[in-house]
Amino acid sequence: MAETGKRLAVIGASGHGKVVADIAERNGYGTIVFLDDNEALNECGKYRVAGRTKEAAAYAKRGYDIIVAIGNGQIRQRMQEALEADGIVCATLVHPMAVLAADIQPGSGTVVMALAVVNAGSRVGKGCIINTCASVDHDCSIGDYVHVAVGAHLAGAVSAGRRTWIGAGAVVSNNISVCEDCMIGAGAAVVRDIEESGTYVGVPAKKR
Ligand SMILES: CC(C)(COP(=O)(O)OP(=O)(O)OC[C@H]1O[C@@H](n2cnc3c(N)ncnc32)[C@H](O)[C@@H]1OP(=O)(O)O)[C@@H](O)C(=O)NCCC(=O)NCCS
Repeated sequence: MAETGKRLAVIGASGHGKVVADIAERNGYGTIVFLDDNEALNECGKYRVAGRTKEAAAYAKRGYDIIVAIGNGQIRQRMQEALEADGIVCATLVHPMAVLAADIQPGSGTVVMALAVVNAGSRVGKGCIINTCASVDHDCSIGDYVHVAVGAHLAGAVSAGRRTWIGAGAVVSNNISVCEDCMIGAGAAVVRDIEESGTYVGVPAKKR
């Protein structure tokens, strides 16, 4: 691919990264490459793996925007913070068919995927993933590096602490707080505040 238009280096050549790259393309990025430390990887979908993660700063100097597309919240945080220490502010990507209320400004490094909805009064931190068909209703607080997985729904005024992962199709009822570093299992229904980090599954969600 010739280097045209806006340029983006995506860290993490994975299925998730491929979706991030597609959203970038729809946001006008004409040149997209991947950086990954697995030397066996040469491509990610139709995109080229052009180098290793340590080359991100060099790509930034060449005018590339950078985004970390790694599902694990701890690793995503570590990599984004390392970039920030080098003075790099990660790109924010919103799919053109996501619906964000006018007052929503997702933080740096956050990606909002197709058919996701974020309603008025919510705060979405940095390095978050609001995945395909997920919804975050009014007045929620989504901490840094949170992942709201595919088809998960947060009702109004929910708070999700840093690095928490709300699993696929899970539901968090209104006014509920989920503390940091939780894994909410796929299909769970959270109906009480969660104050202790850990893995919670089931309906109603219980600690495993
Ligand atoms: C909750 C979760 C993290 C547990 O993973 P794990 O530690 O590897 O657990 P295991 O698969 O070994 O299962 C352990 C037990 O928990 C049960 N379990 C696992 N996930 C469950 C879930 N979501 N709801 C209810 N029970 C669940 C298993 O059936 C198993 O029960 P058993 O001991 O009676 O056989 C995982 O199953 C999950 O739901 N991850 C979310 C994935 C997701 O949302 N991906 C979206 C990507 S966008």
